[in-house]
Amino acid sequence: MVNIAIDGPAGAGKSTIAKKLAKDLGYIYVDTGAMYRAMAYYFLKNGIAAEDEAAITKACPDVDVTIRYENGEQQVILNGENVNGVIRNEEVGNMASATSIYPVVRTKLVELQRQLAAKENVIMDGRDIGTVVLPDANVKIYLTASARVRAQRRFDELTAKGQECNLEEIEKDIIDRDYRDMHRETSPLKQAEDAVLLDSSELDINGVVAAMKKIIEEA
Ligand code: DC
Repeated sequence: MVNIAIDGPAGAGKSTIAKKLAKDLGYIYVDTGAMYRAMAYYFLKNGIAAEDEAAITKACPDVDVTIRYENGEQQVILNGENVNGVIRNEEVGNMASATSIYPVVRTKLVELQRQLAAKENVIMDGRDIGTVVLPDANVKIYLTASARVRAQRRFDELTAKGQECNLEEIEKDIIDRDYRDMHRETSPLKQAEDAVLLDSSELDINGVVAAMKKIIEEA
């Protein structure tokens, strides 16, 4: 199986790019952030605080996360319910960042991720794919962009949807999330030694896709 690992901070464009690449290459796209979001959604729904490691540890066996594909789109199933429509917001994203620090949460999801990569050609994105989940991936890319550029992209996305938002607040949120994801003890976000660094600050989507295809071909 061919495994392509893409890691990088929040808002670097990983999922947009990985989705497009997967379609072009005929691979399965695995969005691991969505799995952490599904677990975070469960904790939020059940009134479990991110700081309460004991409660999270106790709850984990009751959380069943699985993945299904519909028309090539990944669907995350949480205890039988498709939660795709309710996990893509800042509240769940921040909760996912805060609860993904616990090994008990990570162990469960890493196993599911490895199972998927063992039976399909995948492009998998996340924070620890090249370093921990798929250390033997055929290609590893670390996709990043400046915090300002990532904030501006998020701002444009929300504004286009008619949501009111503040650029400075979004940027602060991104910087806080980067810090948490990069400084946690278990599987922190970092570039794998054998990953290729790609900075998308000055590139549009097509530019990033082209750059990635080149990296993949060269590998
Ligand atoms: O990529 P995302 O924004 O959907 O991810 C949400 C959070 O989940 C992210 O801030 C940290 C956590 N995460 C992780 O720890 N490891 C991954 N492989 C993917 C996401």
